Amino acid sequence: MNYAHGFHAGNFADVFKHVLLTRALVYLLKKPAALRFIDTHAGAGAYDLDDDAGQRSPEWRDGIARLLKAKPPADVAELLKPYLEAVGPFDPDTGRPISYPGSPAIAQILLRADDKIALCEANPREYERLMEALGRDRRLRISSADGYLSLNAYLPPVERRGLVLIDPPYEQPDEAARVESALGKALAKWPRGVFMAWRPIKSVLEDARFLNTIRALGAPNVLGLELDVGPVAPGPHSPTPLRRIGLLIVNPPYGLAEEARTLTPYLTKLLTRGGQGEFVVDWVTAPL
Ligand SMILES: C[S@@+](CC[C@H](N)C(=O)[O-])C[C@H]1O[C@@H](n2cnc3c(N)ncnc32)[C@H](O)[C@@H]1O
Repeated sequence: MNYAHGFHAGNFADVFKHVLLTRALVYLLKKPAALRFIDTHAGAGAYDLDDDAGQRSPEWRDGIARLLKAKPPADVAELLKPYLEAVGPFDPDTGRPISYPGSPAIAQILLRADDKIALCEANPREYERLMEALGRDRRLRISSADGYLSLNAYLPPVERRGLVLIDPPYEQPDEAARVESALGKALAKWPRGVFMAWRPIKSVLEDARFLNTIRALGAPNVLGLELDVGPVAPGPHSPTPLRRIGLLIVNPPYGLAEEARTLTPYLTKLLTRGGQGEFVVDWVTAPL
């Protein structure tokens, strides 16, 4: 288990995933009833972009730094507000935030006193960092167990409201199959739950197979988002850098698909290199 998210924190993929995660949480928080956020692959929680990983692999410069220096139109700015508030203060010259929040820190900032946050991080070093980054918080339950196995035990949450983020590192060749299987089991236990699953798209053919397997689960209401930032130069930690990513949102809160249609083109244009960006916002299975 070598993956350390610090090398990628705040990159284009993080920005896209975390903006959409924030919007989904904002919708869920509109209702007063308590909710639970479950993050099966939590990472280190928050990232110092000035540390070794951030310095050696400055992917954040083509991600969060671009967004922090941008002047979006008013409708987009309004939608980005909660995410940018979670990112917090930054250096206006470099666009480097003091600390970049991972998904656990975003949830910790947005959620309310009665909400719950369940995090799994199986890498002992990242687990230690996660514990340290989030500090004492009675809403938190942090586990070092396997995220897929724990998910099965966590569902359905007692609150019957909330969001599950499935965001593995894709170090293993069978990771997509593990996500498919996890989603299948999770939806059988909690069909109306909101699930977000992130993936890298390296082969169009393999991705088409992945999407077909998701369709075969038989669950309606699966929104598919994709973002391609065009060719990316190799870096010390990415000999074959990622350019296309996908996000599945199962049972997106009402209104989120429409927001994705506003945010995705804007973020594609902002984060793309050489004007070769592309995006997809479409239903993988029919909306309810
Ligand atoms: C992409 S990072 C997570 C980033 C985080 N969700 C965010 O958005 O800030 C994936 C994390 O999953 C951890 N991991 C890998 N396999 C795991 C497993 N089976 N269960 C739980 N965590 C795992 C890795 O150590 C890594 O920190």
